[in-house]
Amino acid sequence: MAIEGSIVVLGLALLSCVADGALRHHIGLSHRRGLIDGSGAEVTVFDVTQHGAKADDQTDNAEAFIQTWRAACDSGVPAKLVIPGGTFLTSPVVFQGPCKSAEPIVFEVQGNVKATSDLSEYSSGQWILFEIIDGLTLNGGGAFDGQGSAVWKYNDCHQNKQCQPLPSSIKLSKVKNSDIHEISSFNSKYFHMHVTDCNNISIHDVNLTAPANSPNTDGIHISNSDSVNVTSSQIGTGDDCISIGQGSTNILVSQVFCGPGHGISVGSLGKYDNEEDVSGIVVTNCTLLNTTNGVRIKTYAASQPSQALNITFKDITMDSVKNPIVIDQKYGSRKSEPSRVKISNVQYQNIKGTSTSDVAVSFLCSSLVPCEGVELVDIDLAYIGQKKMTLSASCLNANVTSGGTQNPACN
Ligand SMILES: *[C@@H]1O[C@H](CO)[C@@H](O)[C@H](O)[C@H]1NC(C)=O
Ligand SMILES: *[C@@H]1O[C@H](CO)[C@@H](O)[C@H](O)[C@H]1NC(C)=O
Ligand SMILES: *[C@@H]1O[C@H](CO)[C@@H](O)[C@H](O)[C@H]1NC(C)=O
Ligand SMILES: *[C@@H]1O[C@H](CO)[C@@H](O)[C@H](O)[C@H]1NC(C)=O
Ligand SMILES: *[C@@H]1O[C@H](CO)[C@@H](O)[C@H](O)[C@H]1NC(C)=O
Ligand SMILES: *[C@@H]1O[C@H](CO)[C@@H](O)[C@H](O)[C@H]1NC(C)=O
Ligand SMILES: *[C@@H]1O[C@H](CO)[C@@H](O)[C@H](O)[C@H]1NC(C)=O
Repeated sequence: MAIEGSIVVLGLALLSCVADGALRHHIGLSHRRGLIDGSGAEVTVFDVTQHGAKADDQTDNAEAFIQTWRAACDSGVPAKLVIPGGTFLTSPVVFQGPCKSAEPIVFEVQGNVKATSDLSEYSSGQWILFEIIDGLTLNGGGAFDGQGSAVWKYNDCHQNKQCQPLPSSIKLSKVKNSDIHEISSFNSKYFHMHVTDCNNISIHDVNLTAPANSPNTDGIHISNSDSVNVTSSQIGTGDDCISIGQGSTNILVSQVFCGPGHGISVGSLGKYDNEEDVSGIVVTNCTLLNTTNGVRIKTYAASQPSQALNITFKDITMDSVKNPIVIDQKYGSRKSEPSRVKISNVQYQNIKGTSTSDVAVSFLCSSLVPCEGVELVDIDLAYIGQKKMTLSASCLNANVTSGGTQNPACN
């Protein structure tokens, strides 16, 4: 609840700042120079409506968006692309750099950007792609509407391993030194955000929403990226709120409110050959409400070898969470061959709240490469399920040390 309040306050602060400054000056101006942005730098505004975009909820604005981007990105001056208020429909678009100015390019979404629903238009894995950009600021208080509800029925990934995933809403690929904030995404067809091959990315004050039963609508999936922070955000969706996949290093998740959803996960790991290791993950000061899992590490059975190490889950509140603390190394398969993803140095500290199942701590580590250096300190969970049960912990193939409160304790 506290997080929700702080997002609202920040949102209002941004809106009033836009209303006082930039917005009043841009209206009706085309590529006008000499405008002053919040940091005091001069920026040139590139408004998509000046390149033919129409907020009529039926024109496909992809071409106008790309033209505006090219004008801004190739201008060589500090530039801001603006999508003003209104609903702008668009099929898939690629916003590609590198851009010519050394200043970050600002992509300001004030209105609603709405996806087309005809899946035959989506030839690659996403709807909106930002790639090869050094210095992107994506903000503006607007929303990306993925129109997922029309196509979720075509997602058969739960039964078909070779399934063709639906497109993610926003993908960042080979983007660095960038800041994503004050945007919303709802009803993504697949992931809301996919961050891959990125470096030094801050994502904060975002609001990602989809129904609890929407398939694979992960909030933010991170892979092959270094130094990504996700903070002060609200994510309620049908799959993991945040999933931290292979090759992720130095990832911070803090002040994230998650629910509904499948919780905050490291993984799934070990699905593909030659996966890169995962290390330096900190999840702190988060609240999970009514999620199927709390904090989870998941790896496939019968995997190729890799490692997940130096992972901290700290100061976490579980509110009616089904499986609060989970390591599952037999994820997604009934194969008997053990996982070869080695998990080590995992700390759980000050995790409190309520569990709706009786096994609140479940470590199912690999028999071949047992979990090492798992530390449980101040775990205080209470059972609030339907049955008359006491909480238990199940800790298999894990070397666990513990301190402080242990509710429940690993045997
Ligand atoms: C934890 O989050 C709350 C808001 O949810 C914030 O007020 C507090 O400062 C945060 N604490 C830390 C240590 O980040
Ligand atoms: C987040 O988005 C959802 C749906 O778009 C909306 O109902 C909710 O009020 C938003 N929350 C915040 C904190 O902006
Ligand atoms: C990370 O990116 C931010 C811009 O979002 C930039 O100000 C900062 O200098 C970058 N940090 C490093 C270490 O490059
Ligand atoms: C992430 O947060 C840490 C700790 O506050 C900070 O040192 C680091 O610079 C941040 N990185 C990014 C990409 O924002
Ligand atoms: C918890 O989530 C389920 C579906 O995931 C929903 O039916 C139920 O109303 C939610 N309960 C609360 C208290 O939000
Ligand atoms: C893991 O943490 C240890 C210290 O706790 C450190 O020495 C080591 O370099 C870290 N390894 C990685 C890959 O982050
Ligand atoms: C368990 O870990 C401790 C230190 O973390 C170590 O001293 C001990 O040898 C380990 N035990 C096994 C069975 O691996």
